[in-house]
Amino acid sequence: MTSQVNPPPRLLMGPGPVTADPRVLRAMSAHLVGQFDPWMTDTMTETMGLYRDVFRTANEQTFLVDGTSRAGIEAALVSLVEPGDRVLVPVFGRFGHLLTEIAARCGAEVHTIEVPWGEVFAPEAVEDAVRAVRPKAVAVVQGDTSTTMCQPLADLGEICRRHDALLYCDATASLGGNDFEMDAWGLDVATAGLQKCLGGPSGSAPISIGDRAVAVIDARKHVEAGIRSDDDEDLGARIASNYLDLAQVMDYWGPRRLNHHTEATTMLYGARECARLLVEEGLDAAVARHARHGRAMLEGVRGLGLGVFGDVTHKMHNVVAVEIPDGVDGDKARTALLEDFGIEIGTSFGPLHGRVWRIGTMGYNARKDAVLVTLAALEQVLRGYGVPVTAGGGVGAAREVYA
Ligand SMILES: Cc1ncc(COP(=O)(O)O)c(C=O)c1O
Repeated sequence: MTSQVNPPPRLLMGPGPVTADPRVLRAMSAHLVGQFDPWMTDTMTETMGLYRDVFRTANEQTFLVDGTSRAGIEAALVSLVEPGDRVLVPVFGRFGHLLTEIAARCGAEVHTIEVPWGEVFAPEAVEDAVRAVRPKAVAVVQGDTSTTMCQPLADLGEICRRHDALLYCDATASLGGNDFEMDAWGLDVATAGLQKCLGGPSGSAPISIGDRAVAVIDARKHVEAGIRSDDDEDLGARIASNYLDLAQVMDYWGPRRLNHHTEATTMLYGARECARLLVEEGLDAAVARHARHGRAMLEGVRGLGLGVFGDVTHKMHNVVAVEIPDGVDGDKARTALLEDFGIEIGTSFGPLHGRVWRIGTMGYNARKDAVLVTLAALEQVLRGYGVPVTAGGGVGAAREVYA
């Protein structure tokens, strides 16, 4: 007889997913109520309010897309972008390539600008490209976990408005652990996920949509047959996805309660608890916590004598790319860390594969004990490879940050 699922204990210190906060998992074990039960619709409305605080926005259209973060990205792009629209993507890592790929599948004419992995864009470089391309939308990642870089966004909203472009941001890996100001920075659409700084499991994609983007999406509204009313007119070019059609999804979360999909109730509970915990802690305090533990991990790996990849002044608070020392097989060392210590750290992609490990300090694991235990275990694994690490250098350097 197959036994009940019983995963091994793990400390997830990679670039996400990270160990979920037990309070989120407890919330997710609550029983189900019906889709249009007043308690359910009230809880949806309450969750919208909590995520307005997390995104720092007054956007009415702030809710959850069912699916992992990628579903949020696809929903945003397929709902905004029509075939033939020009989209500009500043690419500084793997997830910029993902935005390019998704925008191209929406039929966009995609233009990219690139900087080497480990760097970010100056706002002037983005503005020059916007001026040259004249895109309908600019799609940019805030924190690209593949390189650990955090793209400054503060000037991009104003640039896009000046050139009449919409600004979409993928904040999956950064929201909750790095400064993020939806309204103050003039972002039109932003999406995220739960499995990074929000301390939950993957499977729900919070989204916020400003008025300019709502107007573009609503101008493409086609309510599906069987649920449409006599007042529903077909407008503009129909959004190519039914499931990710934000015009209909907004009507499901809004007062109309259009019967679109069946909201993933258990993920709603989890997403609500992720936001509730962040709001209870205070967004500024949560960002400061990620900055502190990220700094301790950074100094800790340096204290072990290891190099750090990329422009550290633009590093996300919640992940560091650590250069794998000569003579160490990166994947075998990760396996040793997992098998002997139950600790997972991340591998890397593309040009960085085999060159760096990515170590996260985010969500529930942005914690002193998680940082110190990881550094102590990493030291032992490196010793096993004969790497001349400074004895106690990692834990010592991190403790100095905490002192
Ligand atoms: C910046 C960024 N965007 C998108 C994704 C994709 O998220 P998901 O795997 O939840 O679909 C990730 C996941 O690591 C990410 O870091």
